This record gives sequence, structure tokens and C-alpha cells, in this order.
Amino acid sequence: LKRCRLGLLGLGTVGTGLLRLLDRGGEGLCERTGARIEFVRALVRDTGKPRAVEASKLTLEPADIVESSDVDMVVEVMGGIEPARSLILRALAAGKPVVTANKAVLAAHGAEILAASQAAGKPVGFEASVCGGIPLLRAIATGLVAEEVEELVGILNGTSNFVLTRMYQDGLDLGAAVGMAQERGLAEADPTLDLDGSDAAHKLVILAEVAFHTAARFDQIEREGIAGITPTDVKVADEFGYVIKPVAVARKLPEGLDLRVHPALVPFTHALGPVSDEYNAVLVRGHATGETLFYGRGAGSLPTAAAVLSDIVELVRHPDWRIPWDPAKSRPVVRAPGKSRYYLRLPVLDRPGLIGKAGTILGEHDISITHAEARLAEGGEGTGNLMVLTHAAEEEAVERALGEIVGSAILAGDPLSLRILE
Ligand code: NAP
Ligand code: HSE
Repeated sequence: LKRCRLGLLGLGTVGTGLLRLLDRGGEGLCERTGARIEFVRALVRDTGKPRAVEASKLTLEPADIVESSDVDMVVEVMGGIEPARSLILRALAAGKPVVTANKAVLAAHGAEILAASQAAGKPVGFEASVCGGIPLLRAIATGLVAEEVEELVGILNGTSNFVLTRMYQDGLDLGAAVGMAQERGLAEADPTLDLDGSDAAHKLVILAEVAFHTAARFDQIEREGIAGITPTDVKVADEFGYVIKPVAVARKLPEGLDLRVHPALVPFTHALGPVSDEYNAVLVRGHATGETLFYGRGAGSLPTAAAVLSDIVELVRHPDWRIPWDPAKSRPVVRAPGKSRYYLRLPVLDRPGLIGKAGTILGEHDISITHAEARLAEGGEGTGNLMVLTHAAEEEAVERALGEIVGSAILAGDPLSLRILE
């Protein structure tokens, strides 16, 4: 039986989930994997917090984890960039394999960390960093190794999907739904990262590396968040036959890779349409197999801990195992605006002729309306919303038209534009 003594950097939602899985799985896990995995101690910020373990198993001193002789493997579940980056590098330099769930540090410093891993001859496992409990990275890196991946479309952030689902199903406003996601341990320590698309973009950097062998930078990914979406948008989208989802798209184009994160109207009949709450799903299109769909819980204590534990077991059994991360084999990241159908919400002033004026401006920018719905009585005094769906239109034309509409003093607030996923 191989023995592996774990030192944890962090003992919050994911770290505590890992201890629960080890407690529950114990002997069965030993039998199935041939590995005896033991928790030694965890680094935390505050040893006085109530925890599932006794205080003697906690430390405030990083060296007790990353450089301690009684720790065989380091599990980084503290989050953030620093000190996570430095501690991962110190653990590798001390000859310890590392497992991390931290997409933010990998998106910012993945190449440095993987180079340090190679130099030290010690692997870094990061399955839990993308889509929580879905074994997605391993599936792409091994199961789909023969595939030339052409496109990925997915829901990569559980919190924003949970928030939009609760707005849709319970009529909650954004703030109340975010609070629920935090209570359930789904959100990042700073939930802005979930809501503004940053967390999904961190994951897309990692997916670009694993699926497309492309060293994308976080700042190359076009990002739009869900903060501007209201219960009205969710309701009207439903009436038009769509559900609003936080999507991430990676497309291989002749000139490079196009990477985007934004909310979109998804038809009920699309594979991502029924993916609700904290569930994630990723549709992979490859040259050989065509479409492959991965689905599961993308966030939460036990699903994420299960992915962390799968890496731990893999690295105990196969110490040389690693997911390739080779920035040398790279293609450029490009911005490819292209055409799309759009949902537009214009919070118009309730005055004669203003709806017609908005329609005229859209027409002047070659944007053709397929459906329209005006709800002026529902707004505050003298205002309301005009919602339209358009035929496929150029992204730049939509931006220019909205700019002109904003400048023509017919709106009472900011307009919203969302792409429609076909
Ligand atoms: P969390 O609940 O906020 O826990 C973070 C833990 O790290 C806490 O125990 C905290 O100590 C400790 N910590 C943070 N900064 C520290 C510092 N500077 N020094 C010492 N200890 C520090 O976070 P989490 O939800 O478990 O997430 C951990 C990581 O997993 C993040 O990278 C996150 O993105 C990733 N992840 C999370 C999920 C999820 O569903 N939650 C899913 C996938 C990936 P205290 O307890 O003393 O505050
Ligand atoms: N906050 C993240 C999410 C955790 O909601 O998807 C999983 O990475």
C-alpha cells in the first residue's frame, strides 16, 4: 500500500470537503486505489474558527506544509494569486507534488508553475480548477487525445448559472440569488469574479492550454458579466423561447483562437438549455468524434473535493502522470467579432415616437428586428422597456447603434445587449 501524507494550504469549503471524503471513503478508497491517503495538517489564517478538525492540526506557518518532512503532497485550496503562487513554487522546490483547485493562479502563472514542476520533476494536478466535479481536463487530455478540438461551448461558472436559474425559477433579484450561492459554498471569496466573467475566463485560459495547446492570457479574453441582467430579461427571454446562460466559447479560426465569456440567450432545445443551478456543461466539437458533451456539478464542497481527490490518487499511483502544458506549441489569440442574432433591451422614456426612433436607428445600422415587445406600463413613472430580437447583425454595428440610441436622449437607463446562441 502506498502511503501519502497530505498538507493542505487552506481549509475552507473545498479543503473541508476533502477531509469529509477522506473520512467517509477511508478504507474503501485504500482498497480501490492501493493508496493510504492521510491528512497531516492545514495552513489557515485564523486558528480560532470552528472547524471539523482539532486545533493541533492547524498552522499559521506555511513552512509546516510546504517544507515539512512529514508532508508528502501539498494540496493548495486557499485561492487567490499570492501567497498561493509562492507556496506552490516552494512546495515544488522542496520536492513535493502539488494538487490545486486554483484557476486564478493557474491563469496568471500557469506557465511558471508548470515549468517549476518540470524542473523539480514533481507533478502538479489541477483537475478541480475547471468545472469542479466534471473530470473534464483529464477527458480532453487523454480520452480526446486523438481529437483536433475545433470548438468548445460551455457553462464554466456554477455561481452565475445558479444566480440566473434562481432569477428564472424563483423570480429572485441578483443580490438575493448571489447570497444563496455564497451560503452554498459555490462562490469565490470575492463573488465579483463569478459575476463579471473573470472566473470563467480563468478556466478558459486553462482549457485553451489543454484543448488547443494555446498559451492564452486572461486579458485576451473578451468578458461580459451578468450584473446587468434583470428578472424582466429572464422572463422575456423565456417568452421568446430562450433561457439566459453564462456561456464561454473557444473557437479555432484560421487566424488563431477566439475566446469569449458572456451571457447569452440559449434556445430551450440547445444542449446547454437545461443546465441549471451550479451545474456546468461543456460541448466539445472535434474533427474526429464530432460533438461530445460533459455535464456535472461545477462548484460546491464535495464535487470539487472529489476532483481534488482524483488528482491525489492519480499522482500517488502514477507519480509521472501529468496533463501536458506546453506554451511553446501556441497559436495566436484573436478577436473575431463576427455576426450573431441579438436580444436588446432598451429602457425607453414613455413619450410619443421614441420607440419608432429606436427602431429607425437600428435599421440605419442594418439591424433588422424579428420580434419586439414593449412594456411601458411596467417601468417607473414615464419609462419602460422595449425588448427586441434581431436577425444576425455585426457586433460592431450593434455597438454603434446602441451608442447612437444612448446619445439621442430617448433612454432612461443603460441598454442591454445579449447574443443569441444558435
Ligand atoms: P474558502 O472557503 O474561502 O477557503 C479558503 C481557505 O484558505 C480558508 O481556510 C482560509 O483560511 C485559507 N486561506 C486563504 N488565504 C490564506 C492565507 N493568505 N494564509 C493562510 N490561509 C489562507 O475557499 P474555497 O471555496 O474552499 O476555494 C478554495 C480554492 O478552490 C479557490 O482557488 C477556488 O477558486 C477553488 N475552487 C472552489 C470551488 C468551490 O465550489 N468553492 C470549486 C472549484 C474550485 P481561514 O479559514 O482561516 O479563513
Ligand atoms: N466559484 C466557482 C463557480 C467555483 O461558481 O464556478 C468553481 O470553480
